[in-house]
Amino acid sequence: MLALAATWGCAEETDSPATPWAVRPFPPIVEPLDNPTTASKVELGRLLFHDPLLSTDRQVACVTCHGQIWGFSDGLPRSIGVGGMGPAGTGRTGPTQTRRNSSTLWNAAIREGLFWDGRATTLEDQVVFPMADPTELGRSPDEVAADIAGIDAYVALFADAFPDEPPSPTAGQLVRAIAAFERTLVTDRAPYDRYVAGDERALSEAALRGMGVFAELGCPDCHAPPAFESARYAPAASDLSAPDDRGRAEVTGDEADERMFRVPTLRNLRATAPYLHDGSIASLEEVVRREAELRARSLSTDELTDLVEFLNKGLVDRAREPQRAVEVPSGLPVPQDGYRIPR
Ligand code: HEC
Ligand code: HEC
Repeated sequence: MLALAATWGCAEETDSPATPWAVRPFPPIVEPLDNPTTASKVELGRLLFHDPLLSTDRQVACVTCHGQIWGFSDGLPRSIGVGGMGPAGTGRTGPTQTRRNSSTLWNAAIREGLFWDGRATTLEDQVVFPMADPTELGRSPDEVAADIAGIDAYVALFADAFPDEPPSPTAGQLVRAIAAFERTLVTDRAPYDRYVAGDERALSEAALRGMGVFAELGCPDCHAPPAFESARYAPAASDLSAPDDRGRAEVTGDEADERMFRVPTLRNLRATAPYLHDGSIASLEEVVRREAELRARSLSTDELTDLVEFLNKGLVDRAREPQRAVEVPSGLPVPQDGYRIPR
């Protein structure tokens, strides 16, 4: 087990006596050939991610719905984009809501299908969706790139980030910079990771018992370690909201995919409430109980407490959380990522 710590990225599959499943190495982060990750590109992407220049009302940025303190979600059942009022997070109000709950961006880099229905397959493809969606940002990459060409500070940053390309900021460069930034949002250093790497004290007794319950209930079939997610689609866990949401079937047209959703990650859940594709379940306890019931099992109070301890402590890691941007080159105020306004 200790050898695994040193060779984490390329470890071979091991059977650990201490975990109820085979320990697999964390999936590699694969960069597309035309978008290698560089520090200057990631920094440009970070600024664009925080810049409300991307929105029709110049008030909404990616960070509005994917804020650091919300585990790169926003604390709302469904998000509120352009036309809304107030900071990101639970204080935000507005006339239009997105159809679904904002997904965490943690580990989006390893996801084969992005969005709850898997409709985008790469981060580069994905960026265009929130930009085009009139309820989210509503401005195309072309429109934003045209504005950016008039902002000297951005022009210099684009030239640094794409030194081998003609220096004019293009829509394609904008998309690649944001994707490069997203690709750095990796969580693989949680107490669980330290535990399987040999640090036996990384998980509390309660969390270890919870890990046992997690395995016994078959949760890893879908929320498969080490990422605690999978490229599988499974039936919705709620039946209340959005009856017109056909889930995966909207992408495949296949009746068998009706109301099926991608298995979400269970890493860094502590900050991402409310839960499920429609944000219909407010607390982690409640969603865990619901998931167990769906597997035909009611949990004792102790089992529930232990399981939540495992998820809440064992799978939480913000080691590589990027800094919030304080200023952006457009000069527009950066949307708050939802610091609760003291009353
Ligand atoms: C108004 C809120 C809002 C804004 C603004 C927004 N998003 Fe999202 N984002 C969402 C919602 C809601 C989802 C889930 C939508 C779905 O699955 O159908 C989502 C999903 C995603 C996903 C998929 C994650 C996964 O694991 O499947 C990524 C990546 C993402 N957004 C990145 C961005 C980026 C980059 C920007 C800025 C260009 C952005 N978002 C702007 C609300 C927003
Ligand atoms: C058959 C695959 C499958 C199994 C087994 C499974 N889940 Fe899930 N889980 C899902 C899917 C799909 C969702 C999203 C459902 C939705 O949005 O309606 C989900 C959602 C969740 C969520 C909410 C995550 C979020 O970000 O909203 C939690 C927590 C969760 N599952 C925990 C568990 C636990 C604990 C177990 C074991 C008792 C378990 N799951 C077993 C497929 C599965």
